[in-house]
Amino acid sequence: MIKTTSSFQTKKIAKLLAREILGAKFLRKSALTLTLSGDLGAGKTTFVQGFLRGAGIRKKITSPTFTIVKSYKVKSYKDYKSIYHIDCYRIHKPKDILNMGIREILNNPENIVLIEWPERIGRILPKKVIAIKLKYGEKENERIISIKN
Ligand SMILES: Nc1ncnc2c1ncn2[C@@H]1O[C@H](COP(=O)(O)OP(=O)(O)O)[C@@H](O)[C@H]1O
Ligand SMILES: [Mg+2]
Repeated sequence: MIKTTSSFQTKKIAKLLAREILGAKFLRKSALTLTLSGDLGAGKTTFVQGFLRGAGIRKKITSPTFTIVKSYKVKSYKDYKSIYHIDCYRIHKPKDILNMGIREILNNPENIVLIEWPERIGRILPKKVIAIKLKYGEKENERIISIKN
């Protein structure tokens, strides 16, 4: 468990995690998947922003609340080609996300996939994920982050 006291700190943790993940060699048959759970405003998108920056993405990063899926090309690391940021907040039927090609995205070992509101698409998720949970802390800008592999 990590306590952060600003969005900057949350991004920094995410950045470190991205570098750790991207820098290690993983032998995988499917995408490396990270789920982000937590209430609205807990910091899921903020965490993804830090992660993408840590992966060397320079492009402007906005929340995929309306587009559901956003993709970024990875240039600085050779084992991964793309990072997908998926927000399932608006997904009510698993079919909606299947129509967006999520299976292909999750099956490709050259992808990293970050999923907000994973509980909405429970049945489609791979068994092995890195589960990140964000909770509000006691003070205004405090957040408690847990990362389970
Ligand atoms: N410690 C913190 N970690 C992350 N975000 C924080 C923190 N403190 C304040 N915030 C603010 O909380 C909001 C989190 O929003 P966002 O990342 O979009 O949440 P979510 O995607 O979980 O709905 C942002 O406005 C961010 O600046
Ligand atoms: Mg969000």
